[in-house]
This record gives sequence, C-alpha cells and structure tokens, in this order.
Amino acid sequence: MNKVISSPIRWTGSKKKLLNEMIVMFDTNKKIYVEPFLGSGVVLLNTLKNGLFDEYYVNDINPDIINFFIYISEDFNNFSSSIENLVNLYNSLSSLELKSEFYYQTRENYNLEENNFERATLFWFLMKTCYNGVYRKNSSNKYNVPFGKTEKVILNKDELMVISKLVNKVNFFSKDSSDFLDFLKKDKEVDFTNSFIYCDPPYIPQTKSMKNQTLYTKSVFNQVDFKNELDYYGDTGASIMVSMSETKEAIKLYQKNYDKVNVVDIIRIVNPKKRLKSREIAFLNFNIENIH
Ligand SMILES: C[S@@+](CC[C@H](N)C(=O)[O-])C[C@H]1O[C@@H](n2cnc3c(N)ncnc32)[C@H](O)[C@@H]1O
Repeated sequence: MNKVISSPIRWTGSKKKLLNEMIVMFDTNKKIYVEPFLGSGVVLLNTLKNGLFDEYYVNDINPDIINFFIYISEDFNNFSSSIENLVNLYNSLSSLELKSEFYYQTRENYNLEENNFERATLFWFLMKTCYNGVYRKNSSNKYNVPFGKTEKVILNKDELMVISKLVNKVNFFSKDSSDFLDFLKKDKEVDFTNSFIYCDPPYIPQTKSMKNQTLYTKSVFNQVDFKNELDYYGDTGASIMVSMSETKEAIKLYQKNYDKVNVVDIIRIVNPKKRLKSREIAFLNFNIENIH
C-alpha cells in the first residue's frame, strides 16, 4: 500500500482514507489534471506526489483554502512564521478556558478580517482548533463552528515545506465550479481532450438533518446543472471521475454515459447518535481497463 501524504488542513469529507483505491482509477493517459472542488487538497497532493500529470488546474469556492495553498507555495517563510506565531501564542496559554477564549476571539477576527494573508493564517488555525474540522457559516455568512477543545496545536514546518514544493507548479483558482471550467476553456485555453477532471462535489443530502445543514449554509449546489456541464467536457474528450456516496439520486443522475465503480464501504457518522452505512462510489466516463 502506497503511503498517503496528508493535507495540512482538516476538512469534512476528506478523501484521505480512500486515496489508494481511487488514484489507481485516474486516467493517466491524459497529461492535464483538473479538480474543481479541492477541499483539503489531499487528492491533489497525492496526485502530485505520484507524478501522475504534467499540468495542474485546481479550484475551490472557498478562497481561504486556495489562498492558504498559494501563500504556502509563493511566500513560504512569511506565511509559516505567521502561523507559527499564532500556534506559539495558543500553546503558551495555561488552561483550556483561556484557549477557548483565544479561539472565539480568533474566530471573530477571522470574520472581520479583509486581508487575504491574515485570513489564510487565521483559517488554518481555526481548522486546527475548531470542533471536528468543520467549515460552516451561518445565515449572515459568518464562520460559526464552536471550539474543539484542542490542548496543543502541532505545527510541522518540514511537512509544510514538502507541500510548498509539491504545489509550486499548480494553478490555483477560487470560483464557482462552472465558472472555473468555463474560465479554463475560454481564458486559459486548456486542452480538455487531454484532461482528466476529478470531481468531489458537495454530497447529495441523504437525511433531513443533512438537507437542513445544506440549506442553512445557503450553498445549495445544483447537482443536475453541474452534471450537464460535465457532459459538455466529456463530449469534448475529457476523462471524468466523480466521487459520490451511493444514493438512488446519484445513480439516476449519472447512469447515462458513466460507469459506476465501487470504491469502498464506509460508516458515515451523521451525528453522534446516527451512523449511516454508505458506499463510496465513483462514476467514470472512460474505460478503466485502458489506463496504463
Ligand atoms: C466534498 S468537499 C471536497 C473534499 C476533498 N476531495 C478532500 O478530500 O478534502 C467539496 C468542496 O467543494 C467546495 N464547493 C462547494 N460548492 C462549490 C462550488 N459551487 N464551486 C466550487 N467549489 C465548491 C467546498 O468548499 C468543498 O471544499
């Protein structure tokens, strides 16, 4: 089993545990890698580590994730020092109560901060110290996740340096997924016939509470529109892989033109009491047997 490199950002829905199963399905006959929903970046990092493609274009609607990777790549010394200062301050506090106060103050600062460098620093710190590594905003567009009671934040600068070097040839963007693909086509003139597009979009909600959560964040993602856009790139010649949790809706949506493959069965914890058994699947528009 190939050792998986971790992302410096904890993220809900991270594909870290599925990477070895997934990466063998990537269409490496193509030379260009496109990822519209980057999240923690763990899929990108392992794709880079294995040297699977020559050119990389990645995106997430959350600008702080993207800025985090850009600063790590382009301004490593300043950015890692800024993170380190915050970590040292936090770790020097003598009680969890003081750490909790520090967390809520940092959360407030983050919500008011307009400078991208500062926001990316605070964002990284909040992801390390918030409850369950969740990124969630309330109806007033404020990040509102409670404190995760982290005793000590670990910062491994050597690991960050490895990541900095890995991502230095990646093109990062922060747009809506449709605008991103459109931008690559029109402005960057990316050759989609030579591209592999890996998509891990927001999941189709399965339970009432998950549906409410999606609505709460006001980020209802239109799965049907996105699938129709993907079909356009598929028709152009791009190889496409879409990660999903197995649901009737997902299968109905992707059954035409895509093959369903099982990745792995997992237990998803929806809330502390409810455990959903679910199967991670992927839809592919290319023949897996042709990958070399
Ligand atoms: C399931 S997560 C991706 C997780 C990622 N594969 C990982 O392993 O960490 C989905 C991502 O899509 C992003 N997202 C949600 N709506 C989007 C949109 N309309 N356009 C682009 N990105 C979006 C979210 O910010 C989130 O990071």
